[in-house]
Amino acid sequence: MSETELRNADIDAALAEAKEAYVKRNPKSLARFVEATAVMPGGNTRTVLHYAPFPLGIARGEGCRLWDLDGAEYIDFLGEYTAGIYGHSHPVIRAAVDRALDAGVNFGGTNLIEARFARAVCDRFGLERVRFTNSGTEANLLAISVGRIFTGRSKVMVFNGGYHGAVFGFAGGGSPINAPFEYVLAAYNDIAATRALIEQHASDLALVILEPMMGGGGCIAAAPEFLTMLREQTTKVGALLILDEVMTSRLAPGGLQQVRGVKPDLTTFGKYIGGGMSFGAFGGRADIMDLFDPRRPDALPHAGTFNNNVLTMSAGLAGLTEIYTPDAARALNARGDALRERLNALCRAQNAPMQFTGIGSMLAVHFTRHPVRSPADAAKGDQKLKELFFFDMLAQGIWLARRGMFTLCLPIGDAECDRLASAVEEFLASRRSLLNGG
Ligand SMILES: Cc1ncc(COP(=O)(O)O)c(C=O)c1O
Repeated sequence: MSETELRNADIDAALAEAKEAYVKRNPKSLARFVEATAVMPGGNTRTVLHYAPFPLGIARGEGCRLWDLDGAEYIDFLGEYTAGIYGHSHPVIRAAVDRALDAGVNFGGTNLIEARFARAVCDRFGLERVRFTNSGTEANLLAISVGRIFTGRSKVMVFNGGYHGAVFGFAGGGSPINAPFEYVLAAYNDIAATRALIEQHASDLALVILEPMMGGGGCIAAAPEFLTMLREQTTKVGALLILDEVMTSRLAPGGLQQVRGVKPDLTTFGKYIGGGMSFGAFGGRADIMDLFDPRRPDALPHAGTFNNNVLTMSAGLAGLTEIYTPDAARALNARGDALRERLNALCRAQNAPMQFTGIGSMLAVHFTRHPVRSPADAAKGDQKLKELFFFDMLAQGIWLARRGMFTLCLPIGDAECDRLASAVEEFLASRRSLLNGG
């Protein structure tokens, strides 16, 4: 066997051992999973939550802590993939939801909160108009659809490795279940090739959509020059620029676009802005959004029974105006920057092929020494070490995404960051021989 083969066999053995211990620790989660498979395909209704041998069943949460069915406690460093910024059962959110329930839900009419919430979202993110949906997927579906109608063009530029929702997955180029638009697939952060592609499709290109930092794709930031080029080129060819800030809007008071100084034509939102309830929104230029104005004879319809549901409107308004204020956003992201730098210093001190990418309160681990500037770079990282890291973190009471993503929620403080740093240090020490072969 070559040195690489030997090392891979050692990683496989460590992984098998870690999974065996996981199975032993979690009999109730296994039983729940087996039961669920009888009525849900693979026991699952949300693909990202599945991992082998079976996912943990989470029984409850409080603040930044979670407990699984078998009673183990975790620090919640996943924060519901950015949607859980307020932690579990924040008293202000809870009071807002209670107030809404006291006044009745599902009126089949406009309520008194939706326009106040819309005002808060528009002011915060510099939008002229906004409309609400039930998910980020729906927000992107509507933003793309209106973008095609507004421009009278058909093609939609997306980026390999990008993700914009259940029917907009572009890892590995695309997915059979994607919404059937005419896509032009470009390479994230490749300025010259993307510019050429925009020029090539200039007259048919309706829009370019991207995250200013790929979140689910591995917390890979778009280079500022890349975003600037996209803004200039889309303007030049008459296409729209849509920034998907479903995740990244949390990274600064006005979203990542504010930091980068790039003004898109439309922005899409989701996750935490609904205060932990189902949420999505899209908005931006009035001349585009006003195509939905129902007072117009040619108005585009935009339906959705729960678009203005009072639980989301109330929780969202309270969250954005009373809890995640601009100061709170700056503080949380400063905490995240410090944590990422601290974890990277630990990796460097051990000369490990391991790094944490990201901005502010969103970070992701990659098992490579090379810079990670694109999904292709991320794919070159060692995926087995990442899986081992996941199981080792769970064993140490750290809850994270199976793909290696962490996000900070507001209740996370110094003590929790210390716990994560110690867990990573322990991983670096106990897995030194596996890491150092890389
Ligand atoms: C960047 C991005 N856009 C859109 C979505 C879809 O949002 P939802 O899951 O609410 O449909 C997600 C969800 O993870 C996302 O990360």
